[in-house]
Amino acid sequence: MSPVPPPAPAETTTWAPDRIPDPHPCLACPQAPVQTLATGNPPPLPIVVLISGSGSNLQALIDGATDGSLPIRIACVIANRGDAYGLERARRAGIGTQVLSHKDFGDRKTFDTALMALIDGFQPGLVVLAGFMRILTPDFVAHYQGRLLNIHPSLLPKYRGLHTHERALAARETEHGATVHFVTAELDGGPAILQARVSVAADDDASRLAARVLVQEHRLYPQVVRWFAQGRLELGPNDLPRLDGQALAEPLRLDLLTPDQLA
Ligand code: GAR
Repeated sequence: MSPVPPPAPAETTTWAPDRIPDPHPCLACPQAPVQTLATGNPPPLPIVVLISGSGSNLQALIDGATDGSLPIRIACVIANRGDAYGLERARRAGIGTQVLSHKDFGDRKTFDTALMALIDGFQPGLVVLAGFMRILTPDFVAHYQGRLLNIHPSLLPKYRGLHTHERALAARETEHGATVHFVTAELDGGPAILQARVSVAADDDASRLAARVLVQEHRLYPQVVRWFAQGRLELGPNDLPRLDGQALAEPLRLDLLTPDQLA
């Protein structure tokens, strides 16, 4: 029997600001929707992932989509930097990629407007920020209200912004971690859904701590994306996340999830 060939590497399209199609014709999505007629399963949720760098969280989502544990279809990966390694991860998985460089735009508003046009061409049910290192305009955030998730490497509301591991060490925290939250206009301030904690060792440095947090991030993000894709998670009234109809006044903890929540 001849071996199954790997997916053909996908092309990356780099958009100049005056060439953003509206809406984007979505011809670059090589991942065809999964055939569901035979199984009766609902079609996987189309998502768009935004990245700026390594894309290890993206990889966790790719792995979940590939092994069937996540009912999602990654319609496109968009980076604001052409050198983001996550683009390579996406290409290897046969996922279409786009580069929209913020440097090609005069201000934040025009970049975000172009980014919205690009994203919307893929008609995603969910937009996932996975290490997308941009402050978003209120218009962008409002446009994706309730279907925009972010992961942040701290136990929010502690340590919004950058250098979270260094700051946690400087404050002699004994616990640190990561949070997945719905995005609101406040930087790293949206309603928290799920957190993972790691202990801080006396001899930790920022890179060792970051590596341990990242391992937890790769468990955290797929769990939240799974809930959303299963239709179990939403942003409810008063900006409170709701899981299985229950409002979350506090973020859930990954290590304390019940079997029902994990199902
Ligand atoms: C992750 O640690 C993520 O939490 C962080 O960037 C890293 C991206 O890693 N995001 C933020 O700081 C957002 N405020 P990755 O590219 O390997 O997924």
